[in-house]
Amino acid sequence: MKSSMSLRNMRDLVSTVSEELKADRAEAERIIAALLDRPLFDLYAMDRISEREQRTISAAVERMKRGVPVEYLTGRVQFRDHVLSIHPGVFIPRLETEYLVELIQKELQSAPATILEIGTGCGALSVALAFVYPDSRIVATDISRVAIENVRQNVKNFRLASKVHIVQCDMYEGIAGRFDLIISNPPYVPRARLKKLPKSVKDFEPITALDGGEEGVELVQKLIEGCGSRLSDGGLMAIEIDEEAVNIIELLLRKQGIYSFRFHKDLFGRWRYLFIGDHDEKG
Ligand SMILES: C[S@@+](CC[C@H](N)C(=O)[O-])C[C@H]1O[C@@H](n2cnc3c(N)ncnc32)[C@H](O)[C@@H]1O
Repeated sequence: MKSSMSLRNMRDLVSTVSEELKADRAEAERIIAALLDRPLFDLYAMDRISEREQRTISAAVERMKRGVPVEYLTGRVQFRDHVLSIHPGVFIPRLETEYLVELIQKELQSAPATILEIGTGCGALSVALAFVYPDSRIVATDISRVAIENVRQNVKNFRLASKVHIVQCDMYEGIAGRFDLIISNPPYVPRARLKKLPKSVKDFEPITALDGGEEGVELVQKLIEGCGSRLSDGGLMAIEIDEEAVNIIELLLRKQGIYSFRFHKDLFGRWRYLFIGDHDEKG
């Protein structure tokens, strides 16, 4: 973006950003609001854009043209009602995962006393669940050191340290006890599909958060295998999955002798979630 360009008003700026990033106006507005840390509805109320703001936007647009996700530039990501810190090198939470929280609320008859999240990333799910179930004790784990630093910051920012216990570990390693809710959005992209991911994902988001092995179920399988010894009686395990992995996951479940399971679709109509555990309709 040419920093010499004279941007008379927000309309000019939105047009320029939209052209530069080949994004529609709504997307350009969202990006500018995030970069200027302003509410979207308030954007056109800005009567002038300072030179400093123009330089900020200009530099950010150049980096975004190289594929850097806007969330890594602003250091913030919205997840449900919360604005979380996000560090470069940590998976950026997606809309599909926000919806997982809704489904869990619909399914659970009562608040879980104990929750285990495996692969917490920046901690979005654990933070959201800590607000939905304020009396629950949560253990949030991840194998990645940068993710652990990121979740620590979010837990501190949201004053959840007394509720969310953070552990750096590989899957269930070192985790004792049983949990009423086990939740995970593990890496689940089948290896052959990794190279087809958008540049902003494959070049900037961590491979350990994406690579699900040959068929995208390597970690899903480990989660399922641990279910018997980790889930409380009457507990629920909820896992986000690849939409094309339903059949293979069904085979894995039957091999483990697990018959009480169901799949749910996401907001885009794709099979996206596996729920394990006895299920009674909420009354
Ligand atoms: C798809 S990201 C999900 C992050 C976060 N829960 C979310 O929904 O935004 C998967 C996460 O699992 C973590 N992970 C990968 N392998 C793991 C393992 N063996 N044990 C624990 N965490 C793992 C990654 O570091 C990453 O943070």
